[in-house]
Amino acid sequence: MIVLGIETSCDDTSAAIVRNGHEVLSSIVSSQIDLHAKFGGIVPEIASRKHVELINPVIREALNSAGITFQDLDGVAVTNRPGLLGSLLIGVSAAKAVSAVLQIPMVGVHHLEGHIYANFLTNPDWQFPFICLVVSGGHTDLVLARAHGDYTILGRTRDDAAGEAFDKTARVLGLGYPGGPVIDKLAKTGNPKAVHFPRARLDGTLDFSFSGIKTAVIRYWEDHSQDTSVEDVAASFQAAIIDMLVTTAFQAAGSTGIPRLAIGGGVAANSGLQARMKEEAARRGIDFSCPPPSLCTDNAAMIACAGYHHLVRGEEDGLDLDTIASEPLAPTPD
Ligand code: KG4
Ligand code: ZN
Repeated sequence: MIVLGIETSCDDTSAAIVRNGHEVLSSIVSSQIDLHAKFGGIVPEIASRKHVELINPVIREALNSAGITFQDLDGVAVTNRPGLLGSLLIGVSAAKAVSAVLQIPMVGVHHLEGHIYANFLTNPDWQFPFICLVVSGGHTDLVLARAHGDYTILGRTRDDAAGEAFDKTARVLGLGYPGGPVIDKLAKTGNPKAVHFPRARLDGTLDFSFSGIKTAVIRYWEDHSQDTSVEDVAASFQAAIIDMLVTTAFQAAGSTGIPRLAIGGGVAANSGLQARMKEEAARRGIDFSCPPPSLCTDNAAMIACAGYHHLVRGEEDGLDLDTIASEPLAPTPD
């Protein structure tokens, strides 16, 4: 089954062709970062207008670089929730058009399900049940995935998302937007022990909190921008975030007894986080899966992969498929 994936939930216009849920024939991501960077974040109106311009060329490029035509497609998967409504609408409208004209099934995919499924792209034999730490610009969730489509949220952030903490800290340090990649790079040459930033622990839960560390960096930088290097602050900040994420993720593995951990979402592209997770997993005898950086940040291959698993189960949506700005992936346990 050849699936066209479409992802336009935020500022990337993406289309991908994936065969049988894991063979990525093409994955095109047209980033709008340069347009938004001067505003220090995503401007929704600019994002949706740009998606209108880019969606058709990006889909065509995905088909061309996969060496196929529209007629070869067996299904369409599109992110329809959560995200910026004006942005989601462009991808969903394109998916509906493809589905209606070609008379092939279409399915709406939850963006976070896509981030989880990025793991099946490089690791098709990855087994359920597993725990996935989903860390992106808008979400930080610890998800228990029992089977395809069967998820429970074990923990989540109570305030900022991990990616938001990277982006806000980078802004304070004058590093521009988005913050994650630049902090990741600077941290490589900084001393992670130079400054001790607080590690929030929400005892008795698997929840996260990142607003304290953001405030701590702001205070520290107000007093020390002259005597501490930005590399040291970046490395110390990143080390604290990684500590919090890694500690809680392995706590979830321990408390559920599930020996399989995966990560996904833009922050999962972080080289320090990937290295620490691998190291801890090896030490504790836990299987670990992590997509390559290009499949951690937003892309349509992950949506095609998640969509494939819906479509093979006969789950499809009609032309009345809605876009939804905010919807959790799954319930939280009481
Ligand atoms: O998943 P994603 O591409 O979009 C959302 O769904 O939000 O995640 C974007 C987030 C941004 O906050 C960005 O700063 C962060 O992922 N990010 C990183 C890295 N690359 C992207 N954070 C830390 N290290 C990175 N290498
Ligand atoms: Zn994302």
